[in-house]
Formats: sequence, structure tokens, C-alpha cells
Amino acid sequence: MILTERELVQWGGRIGKEVTIPVFLGLRGQLGAGKSVLARAIARGAGVEVAIPSPTFNLLFRYQARDGAEVVHLDLYRLRDPEELWELGWEELGTKPELVLVEWPERAGDHLPKDRWDVHLSPPEPGSHRRIVEIRRVGAPPALPGFPVKLERGS
Ligand SMILES: Nc1ncnc2c1ncn2[C@@H]1O[C@H](COP(=O)(O)OP(=O)(O)O)[C@@H](O)[C@H]1O
Ligand SMILES: [Mg+2]
Repeated sequence: MILTERELVQWGGRIGKEVTIPVFLGLRGQLGAGKSVLARAIARGAGVEVAIPSPTFNLLFRYQARDGAEVVHLDLYRLRDPEELWELGWEELGTKPELVLVEWPERAGDHLPKDRWDVHLSPPEPGSHRRIVEIRRVGAPPALPGFPVKLERGS
């Protein structure tokens, strides 16, 4: 599936609004692939109204979301050692009603949850404003709404 930014944001909004929580999504792809764009769209869809900065230095931000749940947004790019995950409360993630969004999940090595979605974003060619979106289900996470994306005319 190849999506413009607007389409990706539309899809993310739908995920945020409809996905069953708890759920864990790993967002993969190079720097600038659109992981944070997608994470923000999902968080917005889940009802987060405050600013959503990149958790690049903090590694983790939490937000109040719909239905009493929380959105937990992580960026593990600067994780030096999977051991640091424990300081973030990694083991508990997704055991409470949390919509967990992890950029650079590969930094967590073997410590990813057994039930999750992996979403991979990449430009079809350098500098493109579209993104190839590939999703992979690992284990038995709740269904991911809206994929493949049905494009809304004129929006
Ligand atoms: N189809 C697209 N989907 C997502 N982002 C896109 C797309 N086309 C262009 N972009 C741009 O690419 C950049 C992605 O940045 P960001 O989401 O911060 O990347 P990452 O978090 O993967 O490093 C943004 O500047 C965004 O406007
Ligand atoms: Mg990012």
C-alpha cells in the first residue's frame, strides 16, 4: 500500500479511534520515514488533544486518551542498551489499558511483546512524498482497523 501523508494521517486517525486497547504497535523505518507522523495521527484519533512532541530525548511520553485509556509514545532511537528499557517500565507496557506506539522497536532486541503489529514505512524513491506501508501481525494482537486504506474522495 502506498500512501500520501494525508492518507497516512487519515489511517492513523482511524486506528486511534477504533483499535481495541491494549495494543502494541512497532513503527519501523529510517529517519524521516513518517513514524512520528503516524504516531501523532494515532494519538489524535485516540483523543489526545495536547501537543505531542517527539520523545527523542525523554524516550517516553504518556497521554490521557479515550475510554480512560492512555497513549504511550516511545522513541527508542537513543536507547543505548536494552537494559535501559527497565527504567522505562517496559515490562508493564500494554498490561494496563494502553495504546503503545514504539518508534525504533528494533532497539528493544528480544524484548518486544509477543502480540503486536509491526508497521514499516519507506519512501518508494528518495525524496518522495508517498510512503510504502507494510504491516505485519506478530502473535495475536487486536485487529488493525482500516487496512488496506480506502481512500476518501476529496479529503
Ligand atoms: N506520505 C508521507 N507520510 C508521512 N510523512 C511524510 C510523507 N510524505 C512526506 N512526509 C514527511 O516526512 C517527514 C516524516 O517525519 P517523521 O514522522 O518525524 O519521521 P520519523 O519519525 O520516521 O523519523 C515529515 O516531515 C513529513 O511531512
Ligand atoms: Mg520519529
